[in-house]
Amino acid sequence: MATNHEVILSGVRPTGRLHFGNYFGAIKHFIDLQKQGYRCYYFIADYHALTTISEREDFFRHTLDMLRTYVACGLDPRKSIIYRQSDLPCTAELTLLFGMITNIGFLERGTTYKDKMSKLTSPEGQPEGNPLSYGLLGYPVLMAADILIVKADKVPVGDDQRQHVEMAIDIAERFNHRFGEVLKSPAPVARDAIRVRGLDGSDKMGKSENNTLDLLDDEKTVLKKIKGVPTTTDPLPLETESDDPEAILPEMPPSVAALYHLLYLLAPWEVYTDFVGKYRRKERFYGQLKTTLAEYVTAFNKPIIEGFHAPDNTDEFVMDFLRDNAAKVTPVALDTVESCREAMGIGHSLYRA
Ligand code: ADP
Ligand code: TRP
Repeated sequence: MATNHEVILSGVRPTGRLHFGNYFGAIKHFIDLQKQGYRCYYFIADYHALTTISEREDFFRHTLDMLRTYVACGLDPRKSIIYRQSDLPCTAELTLLFGMITNIGFLERGTTYKDKMSKLTSPEGQPEGNPLSYGLLGYPVLMAADILIVKADKVPVGDDQRQHVEMAIDIAERFNHRFGEVLKSPAPVARDAIRVRGLDGSDKMGKSENNTLDLLDDEKTVLKKIKGVPTTTDPLPLETESDDPEAILPEMPPSVAALYHLLYLLAPWEVYTDFVGKYRRKERFYGQLKTTLAEYVTAFNKPIIEGFHAPDNTDEFVMDFLRDNAAKVTPVALDTVESCREAMGIGHSLYRA
């Protein structure tokens, strides 16, 4: 395998089953980068998942299932360092250190925080006090610690996480400006990062939005979910002559655009453009579009479902590699925390001989 010295890091929260947004926004790139021989760190962001907890959830079960799905998709814990965020508790110390130099106004401009805040705003004004947690406001600080602790060069994430990576870069720059060139900033997320729409037509397919098509969905579930996508609106006339999804999808009703985007991602170009032609001619075709898309989704999921149930892809296998990989990432992480402690003038070589 080719080796590439650049460091890749990314995380996914263990809040449920992996969906097509996670796959095309993140996991597909994880696999490509692993194949290209980069030093890859992929972790399960269980600390981050605690910001959306409603009652006690079985994060551990989700973690095991997600990791078995990773393996089924082609991620290999012998090639990539796959670990659990909470197995690297020094991330929490780095978060604390960064928290001391990060102002609240900067964090209040974070889109996740702003969205949650605006949902709380009633027509009569904001509720008294602020019910959102310190952890939610500080979400980007923890994410900066995840990224900077392994000295990442690139952070493959979907478009929804672009701002968080930019905030990590800002935090690194602020730290280096005050305490010397200690931290390595990653590259910003590419402008063309993908965003998969939800099956309800909303802007983002997401576990918390309950609008997902999952990698472990079987044929029946896939068909049921896709048939349920609202397509009652007649096709709207398209201004653009291009078949490029970027040009065409914004002109379609959102839930129809979600179906076309998935078809574009999964089917050969000719199949996708054939359906674009039907849309332009306003044929009666939504039923056919849905069954065709369901077939592509089912064919995509089949090997993943088989890999998930493969005899060697067990909970024990996952627990073993989690332990081994946490041991591999710990020295790298402690080295960064130690450098930050030194630069800030606290502690005395606690983690280094
Ligand atoms: P979710 O939003 O479903 O809870 P996460 O927040 O854990 O998933 O996201 C894990 C990774 O998947 C991130 O890199 C994120 O950018 C990517 N991702 C999640 N949803 C989408 C989507 N709809 N389109 C593109 N990428 C996505
Ligand atoms: N916040 C990311 C998400 O919701 C998950 C995540 C946590 C992450 N830490 C990270 C992604 C560091 C990339 C790098 O999807």
